[in-house]
Amino acid sequence: MSIWQKHAIFEKNSIVLVVGILVVVAIGGLVEIAPLFYLKNTIEKVDSVRPYTPLELAGRNIYVREGCYLCHSQMIRPLRDEVERYGHYSLAAESMYDKPFQWGSKRTGPDLARVGGKYSDEWHRDHLRDPRAVVPGSVMPGYGFLAATELDFQHINDDLKVLRLQGQPYTQDMIDNAAKDTATQATTDAADADDVVKRYPKAQVRDFDGNPAKVSEADALIAYLQMLGTQVDFKLYDDKANIR
Ligand code: HEC
Repeated sequence: MSIWQKHAIFEKNSIVLVVGILVVVAIGGLVEIAPLFYLKNTIEKVDSVRPYTPLELAGRNIYVREGCYLCHSQMIRPLRDEVERYGHYSLAAESMYDKPFQWGSKRTGPDLARVGGKYSDEWHRDHLRDPRAVVPGSVMPGYGFLAATELDFQHINDDLKVLRLQGQPYTQDMIDNAAKDTATQATTDAADADDVVKRYPKAQVRDFDGNPAKVSEADALIAYLQMLGTQVDFKLYDDKANIR
């Protein structure tokens, strides 16, 4: 019996075929998934990544609500053109507190994984209000209403609680102070800014939307954009990991 005739066993009996398919798919799955558990770049511990501050988290919620991910990805792939344009490729650990992650699959606009610090707050304000005011020819829609809309953060501590249930390291102290920290981080003259930075290392505390009188949705979104990709100091990193 030739090997092709033996194959008839699978073709004539559907149960055998199903078992055969399961075996083949299981092998394929193992080959693809098992290496992720020991490859350095997927399990590397990255110390400086912290959970979002309540203000950044509120900004992230607006980013998701407005569907920014439909035009923007947040994952720099380890390919030369991407690394040269956007910076160091994204590490798995950098999205460890993103639930759901914002990697995205569409780039009508540029990748935003490292947009933090690339522009001033003023630039973001102008750009969100009217993208064409700063980038002629941009096809991004304007989001002028964000600066005019007061941020609703009365229940932001519940957001933190839910994330803690999912295993994120928010402490009771962080949850109890969530609303206060939100207001503090978005105001320039807050005396207790140090508290926010103590709870959330390297948090940027300032008036992001240029209107100290209120905490707007633009405050939250810009705070979020300005921290994207800024947590890991790649100078401390294994240089060989960088493909450049
Ligand atoms: C219809 C697609 C589209 C949507 C939706 C969209 N953008 Fe954009 N975005 C673009 C395009 C195109 C550019 C490049 C031109 C420009 O800078 O305006 C861009 C540029 C940007 C930049 C500058 C990036 C850089 O590195 O220069 C930021 C920041 C940004 N968008 C944020 C946002 C945010 C936040 C949202 C959601 C509130 C959003 N975008 C929604 C298309 C979009």
